[in-house]
Amino acid sequence: MVMSAATKHSVLVVDDEPQVLDSIYDLFRREFKVFRASSASEAKSVLGNERIHIVMSDQRMPDVTGVELLREIRQEYPDTVRLIFTAYADLHVVVQAINEGQVFRYIEKGSGPEELRSVIRQAADYYDLRADRKRLISELQQANEDLRKASALKSAFLDVASHELNTPVAIILGMSELAREQLDAPGSEPFRGFVNVVHSGAKRLEHLVGNMLTLLQANSFDSGVKRESTHARTLLEAVHAQVAPFLAKRHQTLRITVDPDDLRLCVDRGKIHDVICNLVMNAIKFSPDGSTVDVAARRPSDRITRMEVNDEGSGISEHDLPHVFEPFFSTFDTMHHSSGSFEYGKRGLGMGLPIAKKFVEMHGGTLHATNRQPRGSSFIVEIPDPVET
Ligand SMILES: Nc1ncnc2c1ncn2[C@@H]1O[C@H](COP(=O)(O)OP(=O)(O)OP(=O)(O)O)[C@@H](O)[C@H]1O
Ligand SMILES: [Mg+2]
Repeated sequence: MVMSAATKHSVLVVDDEPQVLDSIYDLFRREFKVFRASSASEAKSVLGNERIHIVMSDQRMPDVTGVELLREIRQEYPDTVRLIFTAYADLHVVVQAINEGQVFRYIEKGSGPEELRSVIRQAADYYDLRADRKRLISELQQANEDLRKASALKSAFLDVASHELNTPVAIILGMSELAREQLDAPGSEPFRGFVNVVHSGAKRLEHLVGNMLTLLQANSFDSGVKRESTHARTLLEAVHAQVAPFLAKRHQTLRITVDPDDLRLCVDRGKIHDVICNLVMNAIKFSPDGSTVDVAARRPSDRITRMEVNDEGSGISEHDLPHVFEPFFSTFDTMHHSSGSFEYGKRGLGMGLPIAKKFVEMHGGTLHATNRQPRGSSFIVEIPDPVET
């Protein structure tokens, strides 16, 4: 932490000559918090009571040399920056102490105030630099540890969650499907409504659980893409087949354009299918009955495949546009809220777009949203060709 002017560095000056102590005190008391000690034992007692950043000691003292004192101080207070005053005759001892890391710098006896000031300032900067480095390293270690724990927790959670959530959903779904097959039997009319409600509830839950687990999985470190060559048209036709029931209910049309017609792309087929499916489901949900959704795949440049999903719907407000790819961004509104529905304007939990973006980014690509004129929105997926190895 770099100290502000308000929190001065504290400097301990050790010298057996009282005049030297007093003159240094007078010189620096404005800029630093200066403590004085006239012997090694006094110095140790100050260090025991105060938080000292810089220690300056005379080399020649009656009971102990400055280098010896500073060596001891280093052992007990390694964070201090240590300086030594010395006369020319003692230089070799001091140089050795500096080389061994006991002392930061020496100050020649008889140096002027400016030189003295510059050395102490350097010592203060050095103290701050080391303190900053120490803090950053410890923050980094903490962050790494947190990350490691979070990652371990997440994979444990994923394992348990996918089993614990998927199993009951599969049971309810399977049982309600079985029950629906029995509904033709005479006398079962009263149950038809109940069973259908259970079934559609289970369907919604399946969609939610599936999306939640996919989103968690997509963000884990070990998720990867399995690329294979595939025809763009085949991929888009498969999406069309999957959303056909919703298009029919909303009297909407899906128009597919592939240029050139035999365009192929090398992608993780399942993931890109999910991307386009999410975008098309949104286009269906946020466009009025009877409108047309356009899906196109092209090669705008040599190494990029671009897929676009354009609709004639509500568009996205300028305020919401930067946030639509954030997990759980959904302009919540209970009137319009119903997970997994395809009716006009029905918002879900806001997991579809983050999943789509993540899947595209796993291919090294980008996903953008814009509004169209006079109405509607446009989602653009761009995927670069894989790098040949
Ligand atoms: N084609 C679109 N037209 C207008 N708004 C859209 C369109 N696609 C997405 N949005 C807005 O972005 C929000 C987030 O979309 P996203 O697909 O992530 O969630 P969702 O469809 O609400 O729920 P989920 O996909 O989890 O079932 C939507 O709630 C909607 O407000
Ligand atoms: Mg969606």
